Amino acid sequence: MIHGNLTGIRESTLNELEKLYDAEFERDAFLPDRLLNILVRYTDLLNREMLVYLGRDGTVLEIAIGSIGSIALPELHLRRNLDRLSGFRCIHTHPGGSSRLSDVDLQALRLLRFDSMCAVGVAEGRCTGISAAFLGEVEYENLSIVVKGPVKPGRIPQNLWMKEIELAEDRVKKAIEKGGLVEEAEKVMLISTDSEESLDELASLAETAGAMVITRVIQNRQKPDSATYIGSGKAEELSLVCQAMEIDLAILDDELTGAQQKNLETILGVRVIDRTALILDIFAQRAQSAEGKLQVELAQMKYRLPRLTGMGTVLSRLGGGIGTRGPGETRLEVDRRRIRKRIDDLEGQLKEIKKQRDLRRARREKTGQITVALVGYTNAGKSTLLNALSGAGAYLPEGELGPEDLTPPRSGGSRRVTPVLVEDKLFATLDPVMRQVELPENRECLVVDTVGFIRKLPHQLVQAFRSTLEEALYADLLVVVSDLSSPNYAQQRATVFEVLNDLGASDKPVLEALNKADRVNVTGMIEPADAILISAKEGKGLEELKAEISRRIASLRHQAELLIPYDKGAALSLIHGKGLVLEEEYTAEGTRVVCLLDAALYQRVMGLLKN
Ligand code: GTP
Repeated sequence: MIHGNLTGIRESTLNELEKLYDAEFERDAFLPDRLLNILVRYTDLLNREMLVYLGRDGTVLEIAIGSIGSIALPELHLRRNLDRLSGFRCIHTHPGGSSRLSDVDLQALRLLRFDSMCAVGVAEGRCTGISAAFLGEVEYENLSIVVKGPVKPGRIPQNLWMKEIELAEDRVKKAIEKGGLVEEAEKVMLISTDSEESLDELASLAETAGAMVITRVIQNRQKPDSATYIGSGKAEELSLVCQAMEIDLAILDDELTGAQQKNLETILGVRVIDRTALILDIFAQRAQSAEGKLQVELAQMKYRLPRLTGMGTVLSRLGGGIGTRGPGETRLEVDRRRIRKRIDDLEGQLKEIKKQRDLRRARREKTGQITVALVGYTNAGKSTLLNALSGAGAYLPEGELGPEDLTPPRSGGSRRVTPVLVEDKLFATLDPVMRQVELPENRECLVVDTVGFIRKLPHQLVQAFRSTLEEALYADLLVVVSDLSSPNYAQQRATVFEVLNDLGASDKPVLEALNKADRVNVTGMIEPADAILISAKEGKGLEELKAEISRRIASLRHQAELLIPYDKGAALSLIHGKGLVLEEEYTAEGTRVVCLLDAALYQRVMGLLKN
């Protein structure tokens, strides 16, 4: 049997793959060439991750097929040996070309104690490299990890890596004898009544939160059951799966009522959370700035308030974990009255912060600074684009605070800023970060990176993050960044426009940037036709994007003809510095300039001329 996502795969292909179960590979080779070739060929053919468990006797124990970016581990690994390694290595491919082992890979290695976790990068039908990780010594009550590679195909140190397994086995045995190893990731079951795409996204969210997805369930259902969402029959069936797979947590792809959550927990016998709680948990882990933390806590409180009865049992049983992290965890057992009071407090504090934010924005507007906001789906590449546009070591204008810059500058003037965090995880950026960007024709603008959007974005979050998202609302131009290489590109793009609409930003001027063009082969027309194809990572299309931003900004500016007396040099310098001079002529009365100024700059110039 082949596990995983088999939709759309021909029966004949599956039959061919099944033959692997009968194959016998060399026992002394870590990754036999023949097996490597098969994995690469099918990864390329299916454009999905492939995974095999290869036993020490050279036989394939399990085969699974994933989606492009993820794969659920087949059940076999759950029969975990507590006192030694699993006895097989987990070899899987990455169709994106990278053989880098992800954090999730390493976590799986640690938790499931594989002989080794091995990743094979595949691009354009070829193997790009192979990396392997092995369990190492105990550090801080946890097994450390030894990573080898990446090595080129044909250069795998087959014997050495087999030896590494023996060394790992010794280390683990000794560690267990000594005692004190702590388990980490929660093992989760995902349940959706939506679609495979929605489940894929839920899986990324769960992995971002640090969980390990063990199994995924799709249930076709027209209407949710009012008591259990998935129906009590289905829930009974899944309770057996939870038991067999030692699941810690079930995550539902939609928002549950308190009663549904409670009933499901009773039947499944494991903790249950919904998509909203999962997203809130990720936000709680990621919030960095004081404002971000308050906003997340507010959203969590608002989510919990109507569910107080539902949460009670869970909390009395469990001390922590996904869905219970964050600033609110100690307060969860307090009664409604105290939660309401906390909500009031948080709203008060956020109001104060908003005032400061508004002041900063007003100051910025006065200087005539044009603001461009990058908006887009989570993981679309906004932070990468901001780094690429602003260049390493860009300067942040004085008075503007990025979230990582909560301490004020020690000396006056502008400050060097660090690149924005880029991660292949959802919601790496929670707080708006600003950078100054130089544009063609002597223009410049402030570019602000905003929190990523997502399907079914919890409304509590939209509300709580409203003041942060307002940075986008007040921007002069929105650059909507989409990941063109995502299989869900169209849906993600639609979601972004829906959220913008909900925020009341539908009438803002928009420029679309279709990112990650390096990962797709674009032939023919792109949709929308006036979008700009870019690769933020490889720096492609950025000049064109800057030129277009500059052109759009120019249309936000108006042409003015002014006569500047010779004793008003400051006004002329300002025009040269911040505006665009089209014509300049020296006359007996002063300098006559024809220039492009936006409204705020025009006001400043007029102010200088009056004094
Ligand atoms: P959120 O913080 O979740 O909103 O994400 P984001 O939109 O800021 O995305 P980020 O810049 O963190 O990038 C997400 C992932 O996509 C990272 O692994 C990047 O390296 C990768 N990425 C960004 N731009 C490109 C690109 O042009 N090509 C490719 N291949 N990868 C890219």
